[in-house]
Amino acid sequence: MNSKHENAPYPPDTLGMDAQEMRRLGYAVVDAVIQRLENKHSEPAIAAAEPGPLLEILGGALPEEAYPTDESLDLLINSALFHQQHGDHPRYFARIPGPSSFAAIIGEWIGVGFNSIAASWPGGSGPSAVELVVIDWLRQLMGLPKNTEGVLVSGGSQASLTAIAAVRALKGQGCVYLSDQTHASLLRALRTLGFGEQDIRILESDGHYTMSAESVQDAITKDKRRGLTPMMIIATAGSTNTGAVDPINLLADICAEYDVWLHVDGAYGAPAALTKSGKLSLEGIQRADSLTLDPHKWLFQPYDVGCLLIRPGVLEPCFSMNPEYLKDVRGADNATNFRNRGFELTRRSRALKLWFSFRSYGVAKFREAIDYSIALTEFAEQYLRENPDRWEIISPAQLGIICFALRGESAQEHERRAQSLSESGFACVTTTRLKDRTVLRLCIINPLTTQADITETIDRLGC
Ligand SMILES: Cc1ncc(COP(=O)(O)O)c(C=O)c1O
Repeated sequence: MNSKHENAPYPPDTLGMDAQEMRRLGYAVVDAVIQRLENKHSEPAIAAAEPGPLLEILGGALPEEAYPTDESLDLLINSALFHQQHGDHPRYFARIPGPSSFAAIIGEWIGVGFNSIAASWPGGSGPSAVELVVIDWLRQLMGLPKNTEGVLVSGGSQASLTAIAAVRALKGQGCVYLSDQTHASLLRALRTLGFGEQDIRILESDGHYTMSAESVQDAITKDKRRGLTPMMIIATAGSTNTGAVDPINLLADICAEYDVWLHVDGAYGAPAALTKSGKLSLEGIQRADSLTLDPHKWLFQPYDVGCLLIRPGVLEPCFSMNPEYLKDVRGADNATNFRNRGFELTRRSRALKLWFSFRSYGVAKFREAIDYSIALTEFAEQYLRENPDRWEIISPAQLGIICFALRGESAQEHERRAQSLSESGFACVTTTRLKDRTVLRLCIINPLTTQADITETIDRLGC
């Protein structure tokens, strides 16, 4: 039987789009993305819509037949992608922004275009090699030991979940110590993995919103007296609320004394280690037994990419699976099969964008950008301090985060002002709660943000 494509070149698209149309659409997408990046300063930092109208515009009958691609592209750009938090906007200060860079976007695109896969060495030796290289670059930046292993995942939540599962497999169930400032994803990870109230110690943070070493020491001593086994301390290197860094060195000493694992959550803050001042704030981070960091935050990568760095030989005993149907193609001995380092089997290469952006900009550019944001947050603090009758600093500038409040105004008034500024689209700002007080919070990690963006945002919040 003659093949349908005998003597003819295979069509380039699986479902029959011709090459000319593929190029036209591809160039249109590049143009749309670059146009938005050029204009984003004057567009809203966040845009939300009611579910009804959005679902009506984007929904409709299941498209049995094709619609014109330009119409669909227009709907995606102007209705779907417009209505979101624009984490790369220079006045997006809420939660943790996502100031992605263009070389990283290109790295992501090319991986998608080539349908990259980094599940096993035989099935993805190229992307797997890139991931090993990138993990080692990140290790070097964090100052962790040479034999450190790692894996790229979807983000901080997944990195910490992976770490806790692997450490529990290594050490057995035991008590875990965290603070009331630990990111909620850690508590969720513990509960997901079956840790109960009897295993979890949430310690009250001190006046600087950090976990005090004394409180951990006390809790461990108490647990040991009761015959319980302390398993892990979770330190935060840059808390989401205030940017505070737990006393990692002191906690590492306690871990060494009691044979306890030190997991450090540096999801947003760890990249500050690239800079001189950040390194000082993060003292001791190199002593982590495992470290979570999120390149899609302060390493300027588009969503999503998180990284777990961990002592060698811990991931694979927990996650390895080698069923008969995955054994057909033999890989090199000692090759890394990333499917055996975490929960995912099929996994795209999240390393390509990091590799391409590190090479395209050079690490010096990343360092300069992080340094700039640390200094800009200090500028914001100084600007607020110039008006002490109006503003109170609740938590000073730390690793790109500052929390402050209007003197004499209620929690509701703070929330109202943050919401009204965000609804105006000029900037996106949120409140948070610190020791039962509602405060305003800016997270400033986008190197495109200017001093004028900061002063205008603060002035609008204050008036
Ligand atoms: C300190 C910290 N840990 C963990 C996370 C969770 O990271 P992700 O949203 O990438 O899962 C965040 C997110 O902001 C964070 O700030």
